[in-house]
Amino acid sequence: MRRALAVLAAVVTVGISHGAPAAEISISCGAVGQELALCREGAEAWAKQSGHTVNIVSTPNSATERLALYQQLLAAKAPDIDVFQIDVIWPGILAKHFVDLKSHLGADEVAAHFQPIIENNTVADRLVAVPWFTDAGVLYYRTDLLDKHGASPPTTWQELTETAQKVQDAERAAGNDKMWGFVWQGRAYEGLTCDALEWIDSAGGGTIVDADGKITINNPAAIAAIDLAASWVGTITPKGVLNYQEEEARGVFQSGNAVFMRNWPYAWSLGNSADSPVKGKIGVVALPKGGADGKNTGALGGWQLAVSRYSPNAEAAIDLVRYLTSAEEQKRRAIQGSYNPTISSLYQDPEVLDANPFFGNLYDTFVNAVARPSRVTGTKYNQVSNEFYNAVHSVLSGKEDAASSLADLERTLTRISRRGKW
Ligand code: GLC
Repeated sequence: MRRALAVLAAVVTVGISHGAPAAEISISCGAVGQELALCREGAEAWAKQSGHTVNIVSTPNSATERLALYQQLLAAKAPDIDVFQIDVIWPGILAKHFVDLKSHLGADEVAAHFQPIIENNTVADRLVAVPWFTDAGVLYYRTDLLDKHGASPPTTWQELTETAQKVQDAERAAGNDKMWGFVWQGRAYEGLTCDALEWIDSAGGGTIVDADGKITINNPAAIAAIDLAASWVGTITPKGVLNYQEEEARGVFQSGNAVFMRNWPYAWSLGNSADSPVKGKIGVVALPKGGADGKNTGALGGWQLAVSRYSPNAEAAIDLVRYLTSAEEQKRRAIQGSYNPTISSLYQDPEVLDANPFFGNLYDTFVNAVARPSRVTGTKYNQVSNEFYNAVHSVLSGKEDAASSLADLERTLTRISRRGKW
């Protein structure tokens, strides 16, 4: 427990307490991009208004590492964190540690959110977390570079491969020797599960495990998709991508050294910030299709707020969750940080759309994003994802080909699932 807490990066106390019984609430916030700053501002505003005090606890950027930390804290029933920011794939894994928020929220409040996310966060009839922001993978590109080289945003992965190579070659020949064609998330962690799911699903290769629990990963479309991705490493993509998470990819793209980037919406606001070398030179489109008869797919991501059953101050913690997930806060976060609201009406808000024009153009991408198989695999999802990203990583790093790696993965998942029964 001590060690787990020692891993938590920064703990900052903010807020003012008035005479009334004031509670001290700790909230774990992500720290990718502007997440920590926005969380702190929101929590501070709540503290000021409510008279409570709040500690902001920053957690590791990797969702995989964050889950391990949360599991350690929750298994020990640690009262240290009252409000947990949880990934869209975790309700099934962590449900038993969280308070049922259904009766604490008004029916209107619940109805305002995208209903599939509410369903996702409802486990055994308990609403274990309130949606905070949603995510879908999108493709960023350099508008200036595509114009300069007479190229358009790609509609298939094959086209992306060709355009990335062409622009990279031309830029390097012109002396821009740091230029890369395409950056993404290739480290062996949850982010790679998202990227690889996109390559596979966009080619008609399914979602690893289907909605009925059947293991579908070992199929020709999936194999071809992973082999194509492996061909990028060292050609249009730096080998270092095998250790990239979101922020490393953004670092390369935002400093002007990549033509294309796969990332989540948060990268838009930072890429267009005053000191960004690529400000005003970024376009966003749906991720390419896997072949002419494939489809545009973005993985569904996003974060929720949950209240720990071990919190000594659940009432104040619930109040903080309601404040942070409100339309007002979601609007502020969307405008300042490009965090996608989970409240559908905000997609018609002129100020939100002005700050993020692609929230409008890509609305379908957001509402039809493909879910990872967390619902059907329940408490075993983390193991499934683990096996999946490791299998993909070994192909990307040239250790084996996709055909043998996915055949092995199918056998492993069959064993984990006890023959498809999750
Ligand atoms: C983003 C997504 C989250 C996903 C993670 C993977 O934070 O919102 O759902 O698990 O990226 O890196």
